[in-house]
Amino acid sequence: MSIDAEIARRRTFAIISHPDAGKTTLTEKLLLFGGSIRSAGAVKSNKITKTATSDFMEIEKQRGISVATSVMTFEYRDKLVNILDTPGHKDFAEDTYRTLTAVDSVILVVDSAKGVEAQTERLMEVCRMRKTPVIVFVNKLDREGLRPVDLMDELEDKLSIRLRPMTWPIGMGQSFKGVYNLHERNIYLFTPGKTVVEQERLFVDDLCDPVLDRELGSAAVQLREDVELIDGVYDSFSVAAYRDGALAPVFFGSALNNFGVRELLETFLEIAPPPTSRQSDIRLVEPDEEGFSGFVFKIHANLDPRHRDRIAFLRVCSGTFLKDKPFRHVRQRRDIRFSRPYSFMAERKEVVDAAYPGDVVGLYDRGDLKIGDTLTEGEEIEFQGIPSFAPEIFKELVSTDPMRSKQLDKGISQLTEEGVAQLFIQDRGRRKIVGTVGELQFQVIQYRLEHEYGAACRLQPLAYTKACWITADDPKVLNEFMKYRHAQIVSDKDGRPVYLADSEWMLAAIMRDSPKVEFHFTSEFKRKVRA
Ligand code: G4P
Repeated sequence: MSIDAEIARRRTFAIISHPDAGKTTLTEKLLLFGGSIRSAGAVKSNKITKTATSDFMEIEKQRGISVATSVMTFEYRDKLVNILDTPGHKDFAEDTYRTLTAVDSVILVVDSAKGVEAQTERLMEVCRMRKTPVIVFVNKLDREGLRPVDLMDELEDKLSIRLRPMTWPIGMGQSFKGVYNLHERNIYLFTPGKTVVEQERLFVDDLCDPVLDRELGSAAVQLREDVELIDGVYDSFSVAAYRDGALAPVFFGSALNNFGVRELLETFLEIAPPPTSRQSDIRLVEPDEEGFSGFVFKIHANLDPRHRDRIAFLRVCSGTFLKDKPFRHVRQRRDIRFSRPYSFMAERKEVVDAAYPGDVVGLYDRGDLKIGDTLTEGEEIEFQGIPSFAPEIFKELVSTDPMRSKQLDKGISQLTEEGVAQLFIQDRGRRKIVGTVGELQFQVIQYRLEHEYGAACRLQPLAYTKACWITADDPKVLNEFMKYRHAQIVSDKDGRPVYLADSEWMLAAIMRDSPKVEFHFTSEFKRKVRA
């Protein structure tokens, strides 16, 4: 197959949702359609959301599972689908944001009873920032939920995106009858059951057909009213607007009952973009370029402490990735080759000889790769858009066993390279401050430092609430600021100055007082376009 055909048949996306909306269930059903898993329950155990308490073994187990489920690849008809897993728990939001840099589109799952939840809003913000095309799947129609029209208003309002319903529910909960497909103009009747694959279809040329009243009872009247309203209120669907991130098609269904999933998958395959171009610091890189390029968006430690190697997840952006071929490690300015790159087909890890744009390959790494690293066929470019986000919780890392402080240093630097947390240094390295977006990471860090590096430590809470990178056009201005506020200045992993603020209010006041200093809330600014 030509490389153009390989690119054209790939769809790389993530399913995102607030925890419990049904992301895992939907993923599992999609894999069932792809024949990747034989039974329900295979993806089920990927559940840190339910173990937010200090259940360390669960965290360990989760780490293992999340390596296995980080990427799930399956074939459906002539398409090759890569689903990138995102952790649902908010404490791992940064991991999710980074994964979103490696996809070409997303499916957003919303619980029909809960509507827009906190994580839904935050995730959508990231998608909007990146203009990622979004399909919405409203789940759990087999339960009582919000009125569909109200839900649509809430979604449009809170997610700031135009919507276009593709299907429309007929009743809900106990009286859920199915959905009307506005595109095909026919009705899919709902049969509860977790193993249902084919849905009964009712073909209707005209919604006034009395057969509807016979089949649906009084719900037929409501449906007619709703459809009239939809056609009047919502713009018609446009693939271009969807691909531009401006319009999101909406499907209704029940993942648990496998209802509405096939239409979702088939429409997704029809409209979702194949691998798209990626912005580097110098130029836009197109997938069909001959030269290979890709970037690392996730790093995972090996679960077996006897093997220190890690797995780096690389998204191929252009050209062909080949096993054993030397590629340019742009940050390290040297060539690097991989003898055992693997893909994630059907629950198995398989060594691959070649990978194409849109694919994700797992690379064994002995500490050479960091999140955000670019590999190329020689060109000195770096991909953008893999920022660190400003952490909000800070603790000082204190060694409680001076004999093991070297191990502690090594451990924390490796863990931060994996993206578990961010490390800030003060007083030439004498003080180490760990910043995260959630408490759960601190538990993971302390546990892993003790168990993998044998380094006992304490994490002492600090009163800071925000970290921001600081720059100024005039180096004198920056130096002055840093001298004056030295108690709150730290350096990040690349040695860049960061200001730690103790409250939003103080930060706002300081920003007002220092108009010549720029405050940045993600690390992205560092990759300014090189001349
Ligand atoms: P998540 O990955 O987004 O966190 O959600 P997940 O799929 O795990 O689903 C959360 C809960 O919602 C699960 O129930 C799941 O069975 C249920 N669920 C998912 N889709 C539907 C649906 O269409 N209808 C209904 N009624 N429920 C649905 P649980 O009791 O928390 O877990 P489990 O005991 O079923 O595993």
